[in-house]
Amino acid sequence: MSFRHLRVTACVGAVLASGLVFPIVAETAGPAAPPAARSVWDGVFSPDQAARGQKAYNSQCARCHGESLGGGEDSPPLVDQDFLGNWNGKTLGTLVEYTRKKMPSDGPGKLSRQLCTDVVAYLLSANRFPAGNGSLEPNVDLLNQILIEPKK
Ligand code: HEC
Repeated sequence: MSFRHLRVTACVGAVLASGLVFPIVAETAGPAAPPAARSVWDGVFSPDQAARGQKAYNSQCARCHGESLGGGEDSPPLVDQDFLGNWNGKTLGTLVEYTRKKMPSDGPGKLSRQLCTDVVAYLLSANRFPAGNGSLEPNVDLLNQILIEPKK
């Protein structure tokens, strides 16, 4: 730890002790991930985004996972208990990044984070989670704050 950092810490400590500037604490608290603040039940994607995601799904994913997401020969389903059970307690950040890095399984790593986020919006819609007003943003920090919970 540098001397400068120590001084900043001491300074924040002094401000803290004075009880004045609480928000500073959150900003200097370091990289510890905050607990997921929202869940897939909170209307985290828009209907438009799910529709965009469906188009992308049909062109990029359906040949293996099936038109109705029920899975194929070697490809698992992306709806209902099997799927939701596997992702229970994980975040949308993990699901989007898994898709981006591992899918399609025969040539992964070429899909943009935006496209993968749209496809995940479609997967949420297909798994009957509610839509809301805003789109899911393709930002891993934000996506990591949204928990996948099969049941409310
Ligand atoms: C070439 C076939 C193929 C394509 C195309 C494909 N996948 Fe997959 N997918 C697989 C296979 C096979 C698995 C099983 C895991 C593995 O072996 O890598 C899988 C696993 C997954 C899983 C994990 C399922 C679970 O229950 O854990 C997700 C999510 C997923 N795929 C999403 C997608 C999405 C979204 C697309 C389109 C962008 C896509 N996949 C395209 C073959 C494919």
